[in-house]
Amino acid sequence: MLPEFIVSIDLGSERTAVLVGETGSGGTLRIIGASSRPTSGIRKGAVVDMEEAAECVRETADHAARMAGVEIDCMCAGVSGPHIRSFNSRGMIPVPRDRREITAGDVEQANRIACNITLPAEMEILHSIPQDYIVDAHRGISDPVGMTASRLGTEVHLVTVQAVQVENAVKVIEKAGFEVVNVVFNPLAAAHAVLLEDEMEAGCLLIDMGACMSSFALYGGGSIRSSGVLGAGGNNVTNDLAVGLRIPKGTAEEVKLRWGLALASFAAEDEVVTVPGMGSGEGEIRRQIIAAIMEPRCEEIFSMIKSAVSNDPHFLAAGSTVVLTGGGW
Ligand SMILES: Nc1ncnc2c1ncn2[C@@H]1O[C@H](COP(=O)(O)OP(=O)(O)OP(=O)(O)O)[C@@H](O)[C@H]1O
Ligand SMILES: [Mg+2]
Repeated sequence: MLPEFIVSIDLGSERTAVLVGETGSGGTLRIIGASSRPTSGIRKGAVVDMEEAAECVRETADHAARMAGVEIDCMCAGVSGPHIRSFNSRGMIPVPRDRREITAGDVEQANRIACNITLPAEMEILHSIPQDYIVDAHRGISDPVGMTASRLGTEVHLVTVQAVQVENAVKVIEKAGFEVVNVVFNPLAAAHAVLLEDEMEAGCLLIDMGACMSSFALYGGGSIRSSGVLGAGGNNVTNDLAVGLRIPKGTAEEVKLRWGLALASFAAEDEVVTVPGMGSGEGEIRRQIIAAIMEPRCEEIFSMIKSAVSNDPHFLAAGSTVVLTGGGW
């Protein structure tokens, strides 16, 4: 049974966010509290100052709790970071001749075999998500229990993490006074929040572009097919503007939010804007130049994600269905 309230936290590189959801009948969730504030004590998804980070968690959660009118004692934590590696793995077992009918125990055993992989010492499996089953030579089976077969195969999506990174994030939340009941790789949580079942079935690429990282989750045939994290995000775009226009990062961020465009062709040729503190005099600049500085970085980030998923047949099936989440570009 679902608890009455579900609380989630995202310890982003730039913003820490807490949501409070009230569960309803039929598995619905109504958001009744939300709070976010600039993150402190965390850099690129890694904890750098436990006390500062815990204080930030406490303040954000208190605000969300007041808004929701509930007391928060436990939460689900979203994690991300360049340490995360995902891949697909297979398991295969024979179905005993004397029964030939696949049981739930067989499914469990096949999935366990798929998870039985050698990982570097510092890594551990965070998620193992069954994608499809193979019943003898028939692929793409979603529920094989009860089917007659001589072999059962399984395909599982594994998300692996550097254990210490996750442990430190959990410690920060515990230090702030909350129990962590679940840890979820961010783009998977985002996908379950915003993608429609039809999109997951037909094929869809979700991209969460944050401040320092961009993560992605590719869905197709109703299941996760690929996921990952790149160490670049919206702050790289801001840095490019700061260098290109020779302005402080704070000003570059304002310029990006106010006049930024991901494609230079989106800017009218004659549009001129005034950037405070740029060069001598008025600091007038064509908006097309701002966009021309931003475009290559945006293209680079999206191209890197594309090359990470382009070999997957579900990416081709997804066609142009891309859903963007996260604050960044
Ligand atoms: N209106 C906007 N238009 C474009 N970019 C924006 C806008 N508002 C915020 N950003 C950018 O979004 C980024 C922050 O996004 P987000 O809050 O999702 O990051 P985060 O989750 O804290 O970071 P990460 O996921 O990298 O740990 C920053 O680079 C910021 O410049
Ligand atoms: Mg984020």
